[in-house]
Amino acid sequence: MTVSDFALELRDITKRYPLVLANDHISLGVKWGEVLALVGENGAGKSTLMKIVYGLVTPDEGQIYVNGELVKIQSPSDAIALGIGMVHQHFMLVDTLSVVDNVILGMEPKNGVAIDYAAARKKVKNLIDELGFDLDPDAIIEELPVGAQQRVEILKTLYRNAKILILDEPTAVLTPQEVEDLFKFLREFAEQGHAIILITHKLDEVMEVSDRVTVIRDGKVVGTVNTAETNVAELARMMVGREVILTVHKKPATPGEVVLEAENLFVKGGTRPRLDGVSLQVRAGEIVGIAGVEGNGQTELVEVVTGLRPFKGTIRYNGEAVHPSARVVREWGVSHIPEERNDRGLILEFSTRYNVILGDHYKPPFVGFLGFFNDQVINEYAQRVVEEFDVRPRSINLIGRRYSGGNAQKIIVGRELAREPKLLVAAQPTRGVDIGAIEFIHQNIVEARDKGMAVLLVSADLNEVMSLSDRILVMYEGRVVGEVEPQEVTEEQMGLMMAGLEATA
Ligand SMILES: Nc1ncnc2c1ncn2[C@@H]1O[C@H](COP(=O)(O)OP(=O)(O)OP(=O)(O)O)[C@@H](O)[C@H]1O
Ligand SMILES: [Mg+2]
Repeated sequence: MTVSDFALELRDITKRYPLVLANDHISLGVKWGEVLALVGENGAGKSTLMKIVYGLVTPDEGQIYVNGELVKIQSPSDAIALGIGMVHQHFMLVDTLSVVDNVILGMEPKNGVAIDYAAARKKVKNLIDELGFDLDPDAIIEELPVGAQQRVEILKTLYRNAKILILDEPTAVLTPQEVEDLFKFLREFAEQGHAIILITHKLDEVMEVSDRVTVIRDGKVVGTVNTAETNVAELARMMVGREVILTVHKKPATPGEVVLEAENLFVKGGTRPRLDGVSLQVRAGEIVGIAGVEGNGQTELVEVVTGLRPFKGTIRYNGEAVHPSARVVREWGVSHIPEERNDRGLILEFSTRYNVILGDHYKPPFVGFLGFFNDQVINEYAQRVVEEFDVRPRSINLIGRRYSGGNAQKIIVGRELAREPKLLVAAQPTRGVDIGAIEFIHQNIVEARDKGMAVLLVSADLNEVMSLSDRILVMYEGRVVGEVEPQEVTEEQMGLMMAGLEATA
């Protein structure tokens, strides 16, 4: 076997889809011993390229070299046999099985031989110890936090002897501590001589963990730079093709009447309540941010105020007590950007013209008095949303499944803002969205606030909460443990409050 500096090299990879040239003669390489970051706008073609490497998508043109040798990768098993492992953004684990079961799945001895479970478990256990992972081999997947589930995905690839690891937005759903653990592992894995390709939209992460960065835009390579010789602003400019404002510009809020009032909310949980007496108010024209480590009641709070979860306590919209159901809430004027865009965001088989009216699809103006869809109204509305919210490609006929992650998110944000709600409940509104689109979504939320919309913002991204909110409530173990003004608190103080260490309120 030839020995090459390059673990993996792509030459002139091209992939055409009906509406876009997703990859346009892309050439790049990752060397043994390094972390290569792959960055680019939503829809630039990153995931497509990595799916080609992993044998999930067939390229129209181009060659792939592994360790200097030309290879053919036609399925994930070809990729695995070549030492390539991939950690997808949406985990592919079986929730009801244990860690060991998931890791060995598909690798059990064949030819009618019974699975030697004890041996498999031992091998998995040894691997966990070697890696220093905090993971119980017998734990059931659905009981594990996201970070641990991701460690199982990594374990799966290493159990199959991956030497080249591809991670597509692995940090989007992790807590800061989990990100730190992941990066420690990535650095060690690279130092052992392996190769890593990391896709992320978080440029500070690129600066922290990568050795080199390849930037792509509209399916083409813009350039490859050494991380030590670049900075966040330059990367952003290469990605987007213009200067990006990295902080939110907004005037002080001028809050009006109370739009949402929650009083003493309780939601039951296992060992302790998920919500334990939460009260809060959100006024017209203000953005109230909820900060906290994920899993401290934020998800439940959002579900309660949007009518998706039973609770005890009182919710008032504009002073009137309501018993929220999803439809009542929506008709009253609440929009919701959901945390889980795959469960509650888009219908993947529906085209955009229907995805942008979901939730209002049964009402005028979208339905005429005979009960039929008003196609022309719907098409014009959809066209407007797609243009205003910069959804790419600019089609209203593409089905949800065919969008890149960030563009799917832009469709949801567009749908929820275009109906001009009185209250926007936004959970992780910019997750998976590129730096230019984050700027754009933030501007849109601020503009709607200035027109009097009330916003309840939940985000695991502390930076986002700090820069977008007018007031911040910190949640810990199902309770609001503090209220702060973003200008008057440091990230360190916030971190302490989020860890339940210092309640300053
Ligand atoms: N199966 C498909 N059919 C049609 N078009 C597709 C398909 N898969 C991807 N595309 C298009 O290819 C382009 C590149 O998508 P890709 O998912 O690679 O982007 P990305 O760089 O990963 O973006 P993001 O940061 O948003 O995840 C997008 O315009 C997308 O709509
Ligand atoms: Mg992607």
